[in-house]
Amino acid sequence: MRITDTSDLWWKSAVIYCLDVETFLDSNGDGVGDLQGLASRIDYLAQLGVTCLWLMPFYPTPDRDDGYDVTDFYGVDPRLGTHGDLVEVIRTARDRGIRVIVDLVVNHTSDRHPWFQSAKRSPSSPYRDFYVWRSDPPPKGQKNEVFPGEADGIWTREDKSGEWYMHSFYPHQPDLNIANPAVRDEIAKTVGFWLQLGISGFRVDAVPFLLEVPEGAEMADPHDMLRDIRRFLQRRSSEAVLLGEVNLPYEQQAAYFGAGNDGQELTMQFDFAGMQAFYLSLVRQDPAPLAAALSSRPALPVEAQWANFLRNHDELTLDQLADDERQEVFDAFAPEEDQRVYGRGITRRLPTMLDGDPRRIRMAYSLLFTLPGTPALFYGEEIGMGENADLDKRHAVRTPMQWSAERDGGFSTAPPSRLVAQPPGDGYSPLHVNVADQLEDRGSLLHFFRDLTSRYRISPELGWGEFEIIDHDAPGVLVHSLRADVGRTVAVHNFTDVPAALAFALPDEPEGTTLVDLLDSERLPLDDRRRVEFTLPAYGYRWLRVSRPGDGRVT
Ligand code: NOJ
Repeated sequence: MRITDTSDLWWKSAVIYCLDVETFLDSNGDGVGDLQGLASRIDYLAQLGVTCLWLMPFYPTPDRDDGYDVTDFYGVDPRLGTHGDLVEVIRTARDRGIRVIVDLVVNHTSDRHPWFQSAKRSPSSPYRDFYVWRSDPPPKGQKNEVFPGEADGIWTREDKSGEWYMHSFYPHQPDLNIANPAVRDEIAKTVGFWLQLGISGFRVDAVPFLLEVPEGAEMADPHDMLRDIRRFLQRRSSEAVLLGEVNLPYEQQAAYFGAGNDGQELTMQFDFAGMQAFYLSLVRQDPAPLAAALSSRPALPVEAQWANFLRNHDELTLDQLADDERQEVFDAFAPEEDQRVYGRGITRRLPTMLDGDPRRIRMAYSLLFTLPGTPALFYGEEIGMGENADLDKRHAVRTPMQWSAERDGGFSTAPPSRLVAQPPGDGYSPLHVNVADQLEDRGSLLHFFRDLTSRYRISPELGWGEFEIIDHDAPGVLVHSLRADVGRTVAVHNFTDVPAALAFALPDEPEGTTLVDLLDSERLPLDDRRRVEFTLPAYGYRWLRVSRPGDGRVT
């Protein structure tokens, strides 16, 4: 059996969709989205072509970091529902061909977690060593790299003992001490618990921070912990994956897939470097930065995979760009100071950054789906939701899903003042951007996304294939191909605002090969020099399936 004939490695051709239960759909009118609401919209996700649902943290939380501050690793936030409701979501999703993965947030807990409460009460608490303490004052002038201006440094003094505890993030998120075997056992138990409820893996939060060994602790290699988690995960469930958040340059990311490319650690990682290069390319109307990034990705073991994305729930970070490159993107896409945050990121969504230009928005998403790897969407991207610029920092993009044209977007029946967040009020308000209208309109962005997901799903080479950039001489156009044993697809994207006359050759294809446009069915035969010529409109794009004589491929 050829390896790509199997569906074992489902994540290599998945369509991932990330959502926060609290902003998706409120079923009981309290203003907060909930699991029952989500369960009732699984069919919506299925028609969109989603095959993997990533649930952001739904655990009990004081909610001071959008749920990434957990007080019980085994619980469900009562505002969102119960374990029973969660199981209904997982079962319904599975029934519609959608796997569910959940956030694993174990670098830290909330300071209200009973472990930390106990640890704080007394240095002799059995939980004291679950956290990282120091008795001497931290060095002066320490910085908090993650939340500059919001958190002072990474050590906070705890009054009772006079010792300092470590927190890579906010002071209310004390770091767990992974050098303590009891902590590692709890992490494994947490993994085992959610797997038992039927999930298919985890989005692992803040992996490089998680693997930081506390100063002075005895732990040979922190990557051993990641290997242990992976081994344990796979013992319990062969289909489960670890999708890691590792925002580091490629050279450093490689180690998180497993030392020596052995594939024993994370199954997937988000491609932060590629995402940032993508925006630089958009601004410059030049694919070169993106092409350079993709070409410099480390080789992966066959089971491993990149998750490509254009937006997530945090700021759009540009921290891996050089200062002048970041400034270029800021100037073009976030000209106002209050559209930027932490000196490194943008608080807007893609459509507003692109001034709502439908040609450019579609080109960007077409490209996303043809990048080598697995596409990951943030809820609302499929309808072109904008941000609520009145909300602070990261919150701007965490507004309720816009289902219909009502003021609250059909998200909730609660009075507006009780909504967990307010939708945008401008040209991106629910009146202008919503699911119901777009479902009825075949020319809508939502229908375009359905085309992208369905074409992506019938083109496993996009997830599996070997990446190659095809030479041509039209400036501002990216032509790349993905080739696997199932076949080959060539993708063409015009980054510029002018039409591009294009010619390229596929010299190793046999005589009689035709390129079939998967988005509009046109057929373009290669000539006897295996060349093809056509003109792409401004911001145009094509997905060209290589159809060889007698290869029998139907789609
Ligand atoms: C990464 C998450 O995406 C972000 O929202 C959170 O603040 C930090 N990790 C801390 O958990």
